[in-house]
Amino acid sequence: MIDLLTLVESGGCSSKLSPGDLEALLTVLPKQTDPDVLIGYDTGDDAAVYRLDGERSLILTTDFFPPVCSDPYDFGQIAAANSLSDVYAMGGTAIAALNIMMFPSRTLSLEIYREILRGGAEKATEAHCPIVGGHTIEDVVPKYGLAVTGIIETKHVTANRSVREGDIMILTKPVGTGIVVAGKKAGLASEDEYGAAVCSMKTLNASAARIMNEFDICAATDITGFGLAGHALKLARNSGIRIRFSTSCIPLLPGALRLAETGCIPCGVFKNEDYTGQSALFPEVFEYRALVLDPQTSGGLLMASPEDKAAQVIARLIDAGYPATAAIGAALPPEEGSPLLEFR
Ligand code: CO
Ligand code: CO
Repeated sequence: MIDLLTLVESGGCSSKLSPGDLEALLTVLPKQTDPDVLIGYDTGDDAAVYRLDGERSLILTTDFFPPVCSDPYDFGQIAAANSLSDVYAMGGTAIAALNIMMFPSRTLSLEIYREILRGGAEKATEAHCPIVGGHTIEDVVPKYGLAVTGIIETKHVTANRSVREGDIMILTKPVGTGIVVAGKKAGLASEDEYGAAVCSMKTLNASAARIMNEFDICAATDITGFGLAGHALKLARNSGIRIRFSTSCIPLLPGALRLAETGCIPCGVFKNEDYTGQSALFPEVFEYRALVLDPQTSGGLLMASPEDKAAQVIARLIDAGYPATAAIGAALPPEEGSPLLEFR
């Protein structure tokens, strides 16, 4: 079967528009005034939140992208896990989804198409989220993802604006998917290294969302195309705090550091650096800087836990299937002249 990575320059979340360009583009949209739109697009949150009644809200999101791995079935699984993740990043449960697919039916066999859809459907089943419809279009490069609707008790919404001073920042998955996939494309990543990245990208963030509800965590995001630094910056800006990271505590995928050292740097790293550069003090070692800026596909949740609960939250997450979970930083009060993000 064809290696899907031969069809793309940079796949997965690396193919997103740069965060700065996106923000400039969004200024043409009208400001939301409907009081039931609790979270719209203006805070850069993972999904929109729309109030249904006194207790519950809907969560609305969509994500799709070109291949981020070689095998079509894996691609379907990863794209679905990634689309569902934005519901989990808001603390919600996914209730139903629609397929979104672009495909070159004249140049690629329909068997590949089927494998992508099968992978997506199995991941959605694992999430107890029925796929209830979809839309397909002819395109030169295949693309796949979901539009997902979720539900949440409104008091459990984990918004970008809700990080508090003193909170401990917890990350549930290791970083480096962009670098390892670049390594795979260049023939420099081992089968084990690539396999670990694929496995991590396929892992649902569903259990982590339930644990956030359980511990009344109020702020989280998932780490995707803008990298750990880009997504952390959205939390810091919207919450009016600073975040100091301990670089050595950030969990890394096996081989990610070695591959960064050999020059496997996706171009998204530089786009993300343009966006965060003014607001962050980066690690001095170039490879670590690349890792915190590396565009992730279907990355982990970055959540803000009150300090007194953090150890318990981490233990629960490790137990629930996120063995790399670690405390990687802390939220500090704002300070004139200090960068919003600091990697020590
Ligand atoms: Co997201
Ligand atoms: Co997204």
